[in-house]
Amino acid sequence: MKKDILTLLDLSKKDFDRLFQRALELKKRQGQGETDILLKGKTIGLVFDKPSTRTRTSFEAAMIQLGGTSIFISARDTQIARDEPVRDTARVLSRYLDGLVIRTYSQDFLNEFAEFTDIPVINALTDLCHPTQVLCDILTIIEYKGGYENLKIVWVGDGNNVAHSWIYAAAVLGLNLILACPEGYEPHPDIMKRALERKTGSIVVTSDPIEAVNAADVIYTDVWASMGQEDEHFKRKRVFQPFQVNETLVQKASQAVMVMHCLPAHRGEEISEDVLEGPNSVVWDQSENKMHMNKAILEALIAS
Ligand code: CP
Ligand code: NVA
Repeated sequence: MKKDILTLLDLSKKDFDRLFQRALELKKRQGQGETDILLKGKTIGLVFDKPSTRTRTSFEAAMIQLGGTSIFISARDTQIARDEPVRDTARVLSRYLDGLVIRTYSQDFLNEFAEFTDIPVINALTDLCHPTQVLCDILTIIEYKGGYENLKIVWVGDGNNVAHSWIYAAAVLGLNLILACPEGYEPHPDIMKRALERKTGSIVVTSDPIEAVNAADVIYTDVWASMGQEDEHFKRKRVFQPFQVNETLVQKASQAVMVMHCLPAHRGEEISEDVLEGPNSVVWDQSENKMHMNKAILEALIAS
């Protein structure tokens, strides 16, 4: 496996499958009361420049449960906020730490961090993608459906960072992925281009959510305005209204459809309350799986 996970194109299909298998093993062992002290003496830094509930806590809990330590570093409280170059920060932090988990705006910032340090760097969300999220999402699909092959996976909503990671995962794993996005809010063309160069499955973008979800096995949605897009909230609310995941939409999917959301959810916007809390929703299991997947990722990149 590569040193870093900056996007899901850093992983081969074999890497994905190893992470899924290991996350399931670690989850099972934890359920049986076993402890796995795999990262004793290791320290990671979590450099976050955007809010987080799940990603931060699940990485911190994962690290503690594996016998290691994490240090939360609010980027705005560092000298980065006073213009210390990223490359200097990266070189210094790598003298103290065994790995870095970074949540920030720009993918270039993350890439520069990775370039100037020899310790593993894990993308915990940028404006461009959210790879660790989609790893735990597919883990959840495997648990519910027994695998990820031959499923119709439908993204409904903004062609955003999480959608981009789904596109890369689809390209590597050969998924059947349909993205229903309003016109003007489709995935970034560069992401589509890179995915299509690599692609083994089917990746289709449409503006018709009703047709897209027909017989779907998985429906996935996310907020209409991501972190950093708060100013566009009202405009987006109007444009995205036909893309709400509600009971009418879910009725068109397969009966056993999994409804997924990376959270935080805005009830009454991208998803209705009844669907989020309904029998097809798997969002709490999905959220839990972030911790199990993060353990597998940390072990793979940091243990040796
Ligand atoms: N899904 C997710 O990344 O949640 P947080 O923003 O709370 O980390
Ligand atoms: N697309 C969302 C995901 C949050 C986990 C955002 O970037 O805000």
